[in-house]
Amino acid sequence: MVLSQAPGSVRLIFNEPVDLVGRGVRVLGPDGRRAEHGPAQVSGGVVSVGVAATEPGSYLVIWRVVARDTHPAQGTFAFSVGHPSSPPGGMPAALGGPGESRQGLVLQMLARALHFAGYALGFGVLAFRQIVLVPLVVAADPRVERRVWRLIGAVVLVLLIAEPVALLAQAASLSAGGSGPLDPEVVWGALDSSFGRVLAQRLGGAVLFWVLIGAARNARAGDTRTTWPALLLGLAVALVDGEAAHAIGTRPSWLGLGVNTLHEAAMGAWVGGLFGVLAVWRAPGVAGYHPQIVSRAARIALCSVILLLVTGTVMALQHLTGLRDLVVTAYGRTLSAKLFVIVAVLLLAFASARAPAERRSLWWTAEAALLLSVLALAGLLVSLPPPA
Ligand code: HEM
Repeated sequence: MVLSQAPGSVRLIFNEPVDLVGRGVRVLGPDGRRAEHGPAQVSGGVVSVGVAATEPGSYLVIWRVVARDTHPAQGTFAFSVGHPSSPPGGMPAALGGPGESRQGLVLQMLARALHFAGYALGFGVLAFRQIVLVPLVVAADPRVERRVWRLIGAVVLVLLIAEPVALLAQAASLSAGGSGPLDPEVVWGALDSSFGRVLAQRLGGAVLFWVLIGAARNARAGDTRTTWPALLLGLAVALVDGEAAHAIGTRPSWLGLGVNTLHEAAMGAWVGGLFGVLAVWRAPGVAGYHPQIVSRAARIALCSVILLLVTGTVMALQHLTGLRDLVVTAYGRTLSAKLFVIVAVLLLAFASARAPAERRSLWWTAEAALLLSVLALAGLLVSLPPPA
């Protein structure tokens, strides 16, 4: 773009509200010196910064923001005053349009997958204990209790570790232009944005969960005063997760957030239930309860799968523009892969129901491994831009 007159400011318009990362916008003049003056101003999805662009030649605008749904975005574009000139000296390799590094995307997927796995194995296994084991009185057996609490306790660590990985992923995604992911301006900018607010809420949720399960573990048998608040906390964490997914950008957002919350909670109940069964299956004293455990866990799994299919379909309708997206966009292809693995999991679940009792745990282990890969694909899905 060649302008005949020097502009007084540069304005960027995004299709959703954004937070600036650091100064947000830098403008390099033809001599490589900074041409912007004053801090950039942001109002909803509009970012503007004053520029002193009196020298003829090309200017490079470098921008870095975090969207309301916590997704990082950055990019560059150029404009010229009077005539184009060679690229401003010292400019970083042109980034082109909005984008993020492959390394950042992989880390984002890893952080989300860790969080989802921690969610399922923490809140889901706790729900399994409360709904399946407690009514059968098996939970009163200390040998069973020890296995269940060990699993839930270890998972708090996974929930806590997922957050620094998410911060590293965010910083890496915002550093594709040259500065390293540990650039304090980028790290602070990421923390001082919608992403930082979600990170703080998730960390708070993990610590509160830790406190509540500590109290539930020490409570007398039958005292569920801390278990139910811990399970409600699970719903609240799923709601917070919707703020870091595309759900927050849907209209109306309460519907998007509600559907996303139910989807994640159902995922937790299914995956947590399966891991719960595997954790206690071989515990001494449990063999006599095997049929009841299987039938109760299967009922939870069936309800969860139905809820996942309904809510998943609603979200797919919200984020896709048509069936073609399933093959032509990265988001759609990831969703297709996820659906493919889910069909494989359901086939395994049917096969395990017909397998001899002594071989069932093998089928369940395979099912659990595939479900973890569904979570990895969900992590990637949430990190990619949706077509709609
Ligand atoms: C018909 C089946 C399903 C469909 C169509 C579906 C579709 C979707 C869609 C469109 C999203 C939204 C991603 C975004 O924010 O852009 C999503 C999120 C997710 N899905 Fe599914 N899904 C299905 C089943 C499952 C199953 C079986 C699981 C795991 C057991 C699962 C786990 C997740 C998770 C963990 C998320 C992320 C939720 C969050 O960000 O808080 N989904 N799914």
